[in-house]
Amino acid sequence: MQILTTPQELAAQCRAWHAQGEDVALVPTMGYYHAGHEDLMVHARGLAKRLVVSLFVNPAQFGPGEDLEAYPRDAERDAAIAERRGADVLFMPEPGSMYAPDHATWVEVPELAKGLCGQSRPIHFRGVCTVVLKLFLLTRADVAVFGQKDWQQQAIIRRMVRDLNVSTRIEARPTVREADGLALSSRNVYMTAEERAQAPEIRAALLYAQKLAREGETSAALLREAVLRRWSERLPLGRLDYLSIVHPESMAPLGAVDGPALMACAVRMGKARLIDNILLRQ
Ligand code: PAJ
Repeated sequence: MQILTTPQELAAQCRAWHAQGEDVALVPTMGYYHAGHEDLMVHARGLAKRLVVSLFVNPAQFGPGEDLEAYPRDAERDAAIAERRGADVLFMPEPGSMYAPDHATWVEVPELAKGLCGQSRPIHFRGVCTVVLKLFLLTRADVAVFGQKDWQQQAIIRRMVRDLNVSTRIEARPTVREADGLALSSRNVYMTAEERAQAPEIRAALLYAQKLAREGETSAALLREAVLRRWSERLPLGRLDYLSIVHPESMAPLGAVDGPALMACAVRMGKARLIDNILLRQ
């Protein structure tokens, strides 16, 4: 595995592969790998001759007061994992090589980014889209793999790719979880033992809502209330950021669960902001 640190080197390597007729899969990440990241790498490894993993804690997607500086990092361990999972290149750029001091171009999908995580993180998805499009242009990846844990992110990237005629195909993988249901996240390390003990209730309540929907409950308001009632009893350390029921592709809020519907949430547990989601109906 090669470790590349400049956009120029990455572009040159991918150009050389394409010139030889080799296709390229891309897994964009911010590092501090867990089994969810590893699943994306393993899956992507089977999709193309070459695998590029990017590891870049993208400053553009962190707002003022967010955890950019505190974001957990362990480049050495991450490099060993990427190599073990079959990456041909690990791309680890310095922020200065990705963003010129006078960087002024942004990619936005405001319609899909205004709700859910975009509500409390107004510049987040602009930063995500911009860096992901830069990675697509540098690698000319044939396929890129994302996780469904960040459902809104993959929905926004799919829309960006469609709207801008990007030729990279997008694949999304199911959320990898702890045995107790908690979605794996690099940010789980921010939790105290007490917070960690309550955190599985996030997933448990979403499963409960899915069960109610499967039994015939169609009112989004009632499904939401049922979850909030559970959390008020069983998740006292959690502070709700949002709990929404939306269309899984358009991210538009739904009043009735009578077609495809996604329930998504963000809950703050101490220093950690945890997100999760579940399809109430396919
Ligand atoms: P990061 O949080 O490091 O996540 C990298 C990829 O791993 C994303 O596609 C995310 O959805 C996926 N992922 C995270 N937790 C997962 C889990 N428990 N199961 C399965 N997949 C999981 O998301 C980002 O980085 C950034 O926003 C990025 C797309 C790299 C742009 O900077």
